[in-house]
Amino acid sequence: MVDHEPVTKAVVPAAGLGTRFLPATKATPKEMLPIVDKPAIQYVVEEAVGAGLNDVLLVTGRGKRPMEDHFDRAYELEEALRAKDDPERLAAVRESSELANVHYVRQGEPKGLGHAVHCARQHVGDEPFAVLLGDDLIDARDPLLKRMLEVRAEFGGSVVALMEVEPEQVSLYGCAAIEPTAEDDVVKVTNLVEKPVPGEAPSRWIIIGRYVCDPAVFDVLEKTPPGRGGEIQLTDALMTLAQRDRSQGGPVHGVLFRGRRYDTGNKLDYLRTVVQFAADRPDLAAEFLPWLREFVARQDAS
Ligand code: G1P
Repeated sequence: MVDHEPVTKAVVPAAGLGTRFLPATKATPKEMLPIVDKPAIQYVVEEAVGAGLNDVLLVTGRGKRPMEDHFDRAYELEEALRAKDDPERLAAVRESSELANVHYVRQGEPKGLGHAVHCARQHVGDEPFAVLLGDDLIDARDPLLKRMLEVRAEFGGSVVALMEVEPEQVSLYGCAAIEPTAEDDVVKVTNLVEKPVPGEAPSRWIIIGRYVCDPAVFDVLEKTPPGRGGEIQLTDALMTLAQRDRSQGGPVHGVLFRGRRYDTGNKLDYLRTVVQFAADRPDLAAEFLPWLREFVARQDAS
């Protein structure tokens, strides 16, 4: 069966406090930390737009105003750059304001990812929608979200992105029990556990921060009690939907992702991500890479 209901909206939870990056995030949202010269949140919005989702809802909270400014016009800055005859920087400044139709809703209370997604209900309405978590960046050359939308169109229900990790990593994530389908990169999800205790994980396949949700998830979230960490978990709501058939908002499928994913959620991975993005930049790599090699050699020698 083919599902013709198109997905047009993306929801990006961005209300977190960013405590792992204090003091940088005392007065700056963690989503605004730059990966080279672009704030992390812009890559996420670009990814949504790249998959055809031009309507992007950011779920924000206190102290997140700089994000709103980032996706808005900056007339004074634009005027100054025009006066300086600097079209390249002018284009860079305008790009983020022309990227997508960005909307905002506030989460109010930090009651978990499931609660953040539920805050999108009024904006999303009765349509399937994507959820993109900003701590994960997916390489634009590996179009994961587009594939997930195809899987939703084919199977209905909801779709999560899954990646295989080392066993000791599993308890940091939502973890899925899976069964194969006729398609190589698609599995049926039979169980989901949020941050399983070591030894009790159903597999090594973990949820990375990309979802396509059936709107039935909203009703389920309303009835989902706080789970791991005392928070309302999206994983728990999807577990409920995984047990349902298509007429009731199920099932849940997984897309097995074997492409490039970058984590920006902690200091070490953030540093790795910045270095990898810099190494991929034609305007920087020619100078940056030889320096990096020399730096590492010097460190090794000392
Ligand atoms: C969230 C989800 C988790 C998922 C992870 C991906 O956890 O709850 O299921 O695996 O994102 O990054 P968080 O990292 O917000 O604790």
